[in-house]
Amino acid sequence: MKVTVVGAGAVGATCADNIARKELCNELVLLDIKEGVAEGKAQDMMQTATLLGFDTKITGSTNDYAKTANSDVVVITSGLPRKPGMTREELIGVNAGIVKSVCENILKHSPNAIIIVISNPMDTMTYLALQSTGLPKNRIIGMGGTLDSSRFKYQLSQHLGCSPSDLNAVVIGGHGDTTMIPLIRLATWNSTPVTNYLSAEQQEKIVADTMVGGATLTKLIGTSAWYAPGAAGAALVESIVRDEKKLFTCCVYLDGEYGQKDICLGVPVTIGKNGWEKVLDFKLNDAEQASFNKSADAVRNMNEVLKTL
Ligand code: 2OP
Repeated sequence: MKVTVVGAGAVGATCADNIARKELCNELVLLDIKEGVAEGKAQDMMQTATLLGFDTKITGSTNDYAKTANSDVVVITSGLPRKPGMTREELIGVNAGIVKSVCENILKHSPNAIIIVISNPMDTMTYLALQSTGLPKNRIIGMGGTLDSSRFKYQLSQHLGCSPSDLNAVVIGGHGDTTMIPLIRLATWNSTPVTNYLSAEQQEKIVADTMVGGATLTKLIGTSAWYAPGAAGAALVESIVRDEKKLFTCCVYLDGEYGQKDICLGVPVTIGKNGWEKVLDFKLNDAEQASFNKSADAVRNMNEVLKTL
């Protein structure tokens, strides 16, 4: 099994680090356009192999896509991260060109790869990756909802005083501060609705804090977060390479599911060896469906910007 991570910035390097520690493949390639950065980080990670006890062979490359040949899975993290006060959407102009050219280069050498998109604005970058490559829809997966759901469980755990691992909770819709939809009605703590244990005020706060989860970290750190985004990317790689068929919220192409067409948006999907395999219908109530439609409108407007670039 071979995996490539494109972009050796904080998110890409963390994703690669998680993939190696879990030995999700024998060969792992880290690629970046900045001379020496991917090679350096790959060597640094390899020097943890005996300390952490993994056998994955990590190599770095400065933009030599031949080294990525025959990858089974490719994670794209390239592009600018957001700075404090910026929205993910403001990155579209620069990142669209980068993501398009990365996809072209990857497919020249790995025509059968499954592609995971992390670059922002993630919903639009996923749509762009699908449109520009013409790949079957199941092979393009946007990571956003996986991260947002993990942040949602963290926020819930803080209020419930419980382990985040005992929670089931998903965020659907777009990966934007105003477009994501934490589905608190459906969230459970070991099968019982979390709403049984939280006041209306607490529920509102949890939802609001989840939605600005990324922005809060960007403000604190001075740049975009990387531990959870990198781990979320690696969790998707794991479900693919081990054919786990785990349920994640991912940004995928909708063709009528959840009442939307010709858009990539976050919905619950199973992830396995074929990429995203099945969309689950969570039977949204009217208010949730209205939020989903609003989120779709906002993402569709963003996708329109692609035509002007
Ligand atoms: C975040 O929300 C990187 O978009 C990512 O932190």
